[in-house]
Amino acid sequence: MENCNIEHLQRQEAVEIQGILFFKGMDDAWDKIQNFQARPSDIVIATYPKSGTTWVSEMMDQIINNGDEEKCKRDSIYNRVVFMELIMPGFSDGVASLNKMPSPRLVKTHLPVHLFPVSFWEKNCKIIYVARNAKDVAVSYYYFYQMAQTCPHPGTWEEFLDKYITGKVCFGSWHDHVKGWWEKKNDHRMLYLFYEDIQENPKRELLKLIKFLEKDLSEEVIDKILHNTSFKVMKNNPQSNYTTLDPSAMDHTISPFMRKGTTGDWKNHFTVAQNERFDVYYQENMAGSTLKFRTEI
Ligand code: A3P
Repeated sequence: MENCNIEHLQRQEAVEIQGILFFKGMDDAWDKIQNFQARPSDIVIATYPKSGTTWVSEMMDQIINNGDEEKCKRDSIYNRVVFMELIMPGFSDGVASLNKMPSPRLVKTHLPVHLFPVSFWEKNCKIIYVARNAKDVAVSYYYFYQMAQTCPHPGTWEEFLDKYITGKVCFGSWHDHVKGWWEKKNDHRMLYLFYEDIQENPKRELLKLIKFLEKDLSEEVIDKILHNTSFKVMKNNPQSNYTTLDPSAMDHTISPFMRKGTTGDWKNHFTVAQNERFDVYYQENMAGSTLKFRTEI
């Protein structure tokens, strides 16, 4: 991602690819994305947007750099953990950035599992998936749509929620995303984490990550990583809070990227009627799945 003025890319309509909405620009680059060449040492973070991608990305970079915080301040999070499929001419070309990057590469994706480039499966790359409860994601995504100028117009909260429930937002349906990746973990090296679990007990979840990445870190380093990836520290760290991007891309005066970092904020936004409607869709779409989420902790 480049830190430049991107007024020409603001508020473009989303494009539909195989029934799913994406940012404009990704349609022209679709073959390039699908033909992405993974390397066996690539480590992937896959998420539905607003599920704790940046949080876990920072943890991953800190782990592979043995908790060396100066090294982790070498660049912004979006250049340390590159958003593969984000291709918007004049702003970002994730594929080109990754092609230039030395191994081991940290790769971010929001693609639904069935559209994830096959090369990652062929190379048996390690994948970390992070899921967050659908209601808090809806609220977080609504604020993100307002501050991130590359998103289409969000409309009112009511309108946005309607689009979100029916999967008519960028990267498609939350239900399909979390379920698709959940099924995939049965036949691939994958660590499936939950935002709420990390919040409840960050050390327990960080230890899972360290084990999955086959690192051996001292208690002192682990504590340092926990400190450096806390909401407060990340919110004040320009290399992890996205304030290094030009305001034409992200306007933090509308809503900061590091907004609240809590579980249960949905209660401050959903009306009783919205909540009831949401629950009906939720039951319909999650029926039969073994996936369980917590909407409060
Ligand atoms: P809120 O908007 O609810 O505050 P993503 O990185 O996938 O876009 O997710 C962003 C969400 O994760 C935001 O949620 C952000 O505040 C939250 N987040 C980022 N870093 C965090 C941290 N260290 N601890 C808790 N939440 C964090």
